[in-house]
Amino acid sequence: MTKRIFNFSAGPAVLPEPVIEEAKANMLSLGDTGVGVMEHSHRGAALTAVFEEAEALCRKIANIPDNYHVLFLQGGASSQFAMIPQNFLADDQTADYLVTGSWSKKAVKEAKLFGNVNIACSSEDTTFNYIPKERTHSDSPRYVHFTSNNTIYGTQFQTEPECPEGAFLVCDASSDIFSRPIDVSKYGIIYAGAQKNLGPSGVTLVIIRDDLVQASKEGLPSMQMYRTHADAKSLYNTPPAFGIYMMKLVFQWILDQGGLTGVTETNQRKAGKLYDFFEQSEMFTATAEKESRSMMNVTFVTGDADLDKDFIAYAKERDLDALKGHRSIGGMRASIYNAFPEAGVDRLIEVMQEFEASHASTSTTNSAG
Ligand SMILES: Cc1ncc(COP(=O)(O)O)c(C=O)c1O
Repeated sequence: MTKRIFNFSAGPAVLPEPVIEEAKANMLSLGDTGVGVMEHSHRGAALTAVFEEAEALCRKIANIPDNYHVLFLQGGASSQFAMIPQNFLADDQTADYLVTGSWSKKAVKEAKLFGNVNIACSSEDTTFNYIPKERTHSDSPRYVHFTSNNTIYGTQFQTEPECPEGAFLVCDASSDIFSRPIDVSKYGIIYAGAQKNLGPSGVTLVIIRDDLVQASKEGLPSMQMYRTHADAKSLYNTPPAFGIYMMKLVFQWILDQGGLTGVTETNQRKAGKLYDFFEQSEMFTATAEKESRSMMNVTFVTGDADLDKDFIAYAKERDLDALKGHRSIGGMRASIYNAFPEAGVDRLIEVMQEFEASHASTSTTNSAG
């Protein structure tokens, strides 16, 4: 048996084991075709069926209305940072950005290449440890962009932000897509790199309203236009076929968990256990403000960088991997996306308790001595 450990990586991240098993079974032959899943033509019957099913399952999971396109693109969420303003923002127009982390800042940087940006709010003053409630919108923004979950800082919007009349809402949902119910009709565009909640890296899911596709700018390079991909049903060029296949399996797995209602219950329970632990721990503290805490990336510290380092090593020795916080902020981060097993959360709590107890006894001995 291959040994698997608890992998807290922020992305690429843990995938559901039944998905990996099924992919493994189809590597040499997709179904009974005699041709492996990575070897089929993207225009052949076998993969066409896979792509159609992936789209159908995606629509089912999120109840996506018919006037939205489901696109499977490349270039990661980072390409969407540019493609959105490139398609929708003119020189003399303004888009409002809610800046809640470095990914939002990167999105702002790209948008400035194409038009004006109004920073409607920012939590940079306290290293992005909260989601600001106050927002200052521009007079008539073309769209409002936000990052629903801030992977690095462990914060998450609890509901969609308001969007002024006449603008459309754009969401970078890379690190919490399909982790909880979503009302797609409130959005103009939702996009997400797959490598956290949806599959392997290399494919980006884009859900975009049809009237926006029709209203997008003409005359851009073909690959940069949503219209190209919507018209060609994501088959303008060779799509990331294996990634789409994996997404199809993950979508099916989500439905098997009871859909978004099912996964959200488990996610709340998993994150809840960790945050409850931090409430009573004398050593570990969650870094995000209570009302802004993420269910997907739980960030925490001991308050002593050396002790953080010791804990990360201690956990790794016990097969709890990738708990090191992002290099920009340090500390610890437990990324517990949909596919992360609850048993791994329980084990992490146990290991934190052990570590804390061993230090408590050391300090008692020290003070006694
Ligand atoms: C919220 C968020 N947005 C965007 C990105 C960048 O995604 P990609 O590497 O797919 O471009 C990440 C990556 O971790 C992310 O967490």
